Amino acid sequence: MEKGYEVHGIIRRASISNTARIDHLIEKNAVILHDGDLSDSSGITAIIRNVQPDEIYNLAAQSHVQVSFDVPEYSGDVDALGVLRILEAVRNVGLEKTCRIYQASTSELFGKVEEVPQRETTPFHPYSPYAVAKQYGFWITKEYREAYGMFAVNGILFNHESERRGENFVTRKITLAAGRIACSLQEKLQLGNLDSLRDWGYAKDYVECMWLILQHDTPEDFVIATGEQHTVRDFTQKAFAAVGIELRFEGSGLEEKGIDTKTGKVLVEVNEAWYRPTDVDNLWGDPTKARTVLGWNPQKTTYEELVQIMALHDLKLAQKEAALKEAMKGIE
Ligand code: GDD
Repeated sequence: MEKGYEVHGIIRRASISNTARIDHLIEKNAVILHDGDLSDSSGITAIIRNVQPDEIYNLAAQSHVQVSFDVPEYSGDVDALGVLRILEAVRNVGLEKTCRIYQASTSELFGKVEEVPQRETTPFHPYSPYAVAKQYGFWITKEYREAYGMFAVNGILFNHESERRGENFVTRKITLAAGRIACSLQEKLQLGNLDSLRDWGYAKDYVECMWLILQHDTPEDFVIATGEQHTVRDFTQKAFAAVGIELRFEGSGLEEKGIDTKTGKVLVEVNEAWYRPTDVDNLWGDPTKARTVLGWNPQKTTYEELVQIMALHDLKLAQKEAALKEAMKGIE
């Protein structure tokens, strides 16, 4: 929108409102929404025919890795065949020479990693139903580029976080809990694998890079990452520190605990329920190609700044919740 685009989006029908994260845009009529679903090819084709887009960013997915073990077929339908439906729709309405397509591929493709850090040439080893479906999405995008000469490209994105991140992804789960614990609204936070390593970047910076990939002269695939990795434990410690709580970790495995150094209270525990049947635990991207070819800055927002942005945003939310609770007490 800042670049002057007319932006259209596809929204799945739900019986309750699910637009909280874009309500500020809807109010300003800044985005045009169409009812649709990636599992429905006739609808996708109709939308693409009506809108006649110059660029398509396919960011739609069943995007939760752990959930994909519970809904593997649905994840495959949307994350794999959904990509094919978009590519076919673009061909069927005759836009294959003019419409550029960005496919949101993922560092989960590297999965049980075969090289550290991971770059464009690292072999894939997907390690969840989600990642296997995304592998199809990656290759079908490349296939349509090679078979039909379409400008169809993959951004292989490492984890990208922000204050709008869904609440059941680990970073947001941590920052929401840190804020609520600091405001005495919650006692504890339960997490899974604290040793898992991620290359976490700021979503806003990554969207800029997605756009750069589509403006490039030639259609090519790119890794988008910061080039730094940290553990879930480190993110937790920094997020709690940002809201004024110093944590010390003691013990190991399921017995590990995060303890408030001031009060001695246990604030973080490990719960087996958050472990995955197979977990990807060593993601670390090499953004050299994006930096040198596209001139993108992988460190525009640093890891420390990212944790601060998210933790302080969620502290404010918790403070509002606490104030509301206090006011309600007066009314009751
Ligand atoms: N969600 C979650 N909840 N993850 C936890 C928890 C917990 O309580 N405790 C530890 N983890 C670990 C997970 O086991 C995983 O190794 C890591 O934290 C990150 O998990 P998520 O934040 O759920 O993200 P993800 O890495 O599985 O997937 C995200 O990033 C991918 C890009 O690399 C998603 O956005 C994917 O859609 C995306 O493709």
